[in-house]
Amino acid sequence: MSKQNIQSLRGMNDILGDNSELFTYFIDNASRIAKNYGFSYLETPILEETALFKRSVGESSDIVNKEMYQFIDKGENDVCLRPEGTAGVVRSFVQNKFDRAGGTYRWFYYGPMFRYERPQKGRLREFHQFGAEVFGVSSVYEDANIIMMLKDILDFFKIGFNLQLNSLGCPDCMPMYRDNLVKHLTSFKDELCEDCNRRIETNPIRVLDCKNENCQKLLYNAPKITNNLCERCDTDFEKLKKILDFNGIEYEIDTNLVRGLDYYSQTAFEFTSSEIGAQSAIAGGGRYDRLVEFLGGRPTPGIGFAIGIERLLELVKINESNEDIIYLGAMSDEALNTLTKVASSKRGTTKTLIEYTPRGFGKHFKLAEKQGATIVALVGENELKDGTIYTKNLKTSVESTIKLEDF
Ligand code: HAM
Repeated sequence: MSKQNIQSLRGMNDILGDNSELFTYFIDNASRIAKNYGFSYLETPILEETALFKRSVGESSDIVNKEMYQFIDKGENDVCLRPEGTAGVVRSFVQNKFDRAGGTYRWFYYGPMFRYERPQKGRLREFHQFGAEVFGVSSVYEDANIIMMLKDILDFFKIGFNLQLNSLGCPDCMPMYRDNLVKHLTSFKDELCEDCNRRIETNPIRVLDCKNENCQKLLYNAPKITNNLCERCDTDFEKLKKILDFNGIEYEIDTNLVRGLDYYSQTAFEFTSSEIGAQSAIAGGGRYDRLVEFLGGRPTPGIGFAIGIERLLELVKINESNEDIIYLGAMSDEALNTLTKVASSKRGTTKTLIEYTPRGFGKHFKLAEKQGATIVALVGENELKDGTIYTKNLKTSVESTIKLEDF
């Protein structure tokens, strides 16, 4: 048997050490903000039927075409590790008949997503998203609400960003625009890259966000979707811009922003950071008013976003916290019993660490400092006899020996 150590798969990382501190810090605070916006937590399975992603993300998208972790399970089912979260949430929405019940639903989720991409900085094969989805609201105020919630999350973590905004039209205006675009592209088809030539046949608007520099140059004079919107889409887009202006949210209109997933209509947006290298998108989202229907539900408007947690964590600094951390130590085996009791009375409100090895005074202080404690509480022989505990606040240097029940 080979004795070579087994490594994690390429593009798939453990979350541990400082990163796990940041990860849970992010999840805790992003969840709190989402709850303050009226969202509740939802979890869907990581494994779903492949057909779900084909029908929603779209057969012509790179995600479905090239990047799915797809396999046949032992029951001969064609299944897939989810490449993104929206499709599963919409499946759940329909399966649980919320579309029939009507009303408004706001859900948030987080967890691993899988895309078989070429790993590089900021691009993993297993990565984590924090996402939010809203069902049942067609008002453009909800588009603004979603963008503002995302901004509030980034502001909390003091992350600078650029916001790119576009409207992808609706079934009334998009087909005509698509035809115009194809006509335009066909005139210099041979000069476009191989991928774009394929996209002209399968999903022409994806040509607009081709990363090839030559294609981008050729697209300079291409018709712009924002000049081809129907009256309703145009009015909505203008209104959204006004709401964002009113709330002091800066944005750029990027008429080439089409997003890599096929389910969007009208509002599409991306938050990018210039500080994390080539993979600069930290979050993206948009409206998907037809997706519920595509997946067999009653027509219900939807909108949402997802944050790429790994990309974001590169930018997150844990805010200086004022919260105390108690370090409990004993000088003898007998005194250890007291510690577990004290700890359980404190842990409802305060992070409390116990050192289980009896040690001397100085050793305990060294360990407490190493673990970032702000309060050291020790039980020695005298304290055990008197039913007291010695405490020192490391921030103020105030020391005292007090009755255990007063601690
Ligand atoms: P997405 O733009 O494909 O949208 O992904 C959202 C974010 O996930 C990206 O902005 C990026 O930060 C992160 N991300 C994507 N791929 C990778 C990767 N290979 N490695 C690391 N991070 C990555 C969606 O997934 C949509 N479901 C968003 C949405 C929700 N739209 C409506 N509701």
